[in-house]
Amino acid sequence: MNAKNTDFGTFAQDVMLGLNSKPKTLPSKYFYDAKGDKLFQQIMALPEYYLTRKEYEILEGLHQEILANILALKKPFNLVELGAGDGLKTKILLRFLVNNKIAFSYYPVDFSGSVLEELEQSLAQELPGLEVTPIQSTYRDSLRHQEWENGNPNLILFLGANIGNFGVEEAKNIVDHLRVGTKKGDQVLLGFDLKKNPQTILDAYHDAQGVTREFNLNLLDRINRELGGDFDLESFVHWPSYDPVSGECRSHLVSKKSQLVSIEALNQTFDFEAYECIFTEISKKYSFSEINALALSGGFQVIENFTDSEGYFSDVLWRRT
Ligand code: AVI
Repeated sequence: MNAKNTDFGTFAQDVMLGLNSKPKTLPSKYFYDAKGDKLFQQIMALPEYYLTRKEYEILEGLHQEILANILALKKPFNLVELGAGDGLKTKILLRFLVNNKIAFSYYPVDFSGSVLEELEQSLAQELPGLEVTPIQSTYRDSLRHQEWENGNPNLILFLGANIGNFGVEEAKNIVDHLRVGTKKGDQVLLGFDLKKNPQTILDAYHDAQGVTREFNLNLLDRINRELGGDFDLESFVHWPSYDPVSGECRSHLVSKKSQLVSIEALNQTFDFEAYECIFTEISKKYSFSEINALALSGGFQVIENFTDSEGYFSDVLWRRT
């Protein structure tokens, strides 16, 4: 997701708040330090983690249909990407636009400066001549400031099922920000992971190689490294669960025993009862009726839902009314 937050004070404060809550919790945005970024790259290539492959299939197979809606306006436009990351999937769209000599500017938004630098370098090599303006910011701040706004139509991308990492109310809040950050006629393309066989979903977050386990445990490792914690990683179990009613896949770290954990930077010791949990991540799966309700609540009209051949994932295209 690349919503990194390396500010020591904020990290320490969020850890303190989360571990003093009942039930204990840690924000998933802290997965993404240098180690977490590498692990997430590995997750995206896992056989069980279908999300990336399915979205790639949609963009590869349907990019012309997706872009036809913005190209129909016959005006130069801004392509804004929230949470750009390595841009692997977006490059499908960029390549098509550049090869067809379409007038547009690309604004990748990411919280991580190093991610943006790498992306800019790879684009300079692969697509020289492409107009790129990186914006280092959070999703919400970038939508508040709209640095890209120049009167041209905007197509805002929010891919990768990143919206699933927010609870229902927060997802609505993101969509409200999308409304505030766009003008009438602008389009947004959002990636949603869809409700499906619960086992398929659970397997995606409980892979046989244990990469997702390591990714989840990196939260504790990061606290050890950056805040002087003494978490014994082996005494915590990675435990994802999926509720097919709410569509929420929730990841936890369960303490295998009663134990005390000290965190030097917080000057505090935390008491874990045997089998007490830390809730670490939500990855919500959607039905089309939930997606349509979200569009409506934010003042967007659904143009089209683009879905892969198995109906696992959808990139939905909305127009701001
Ligand atoms: C970034 N995000 C959409 C991923 C997801 O599927 O929720 C993060 C992830 N967590 C565990 N595996 C992948």
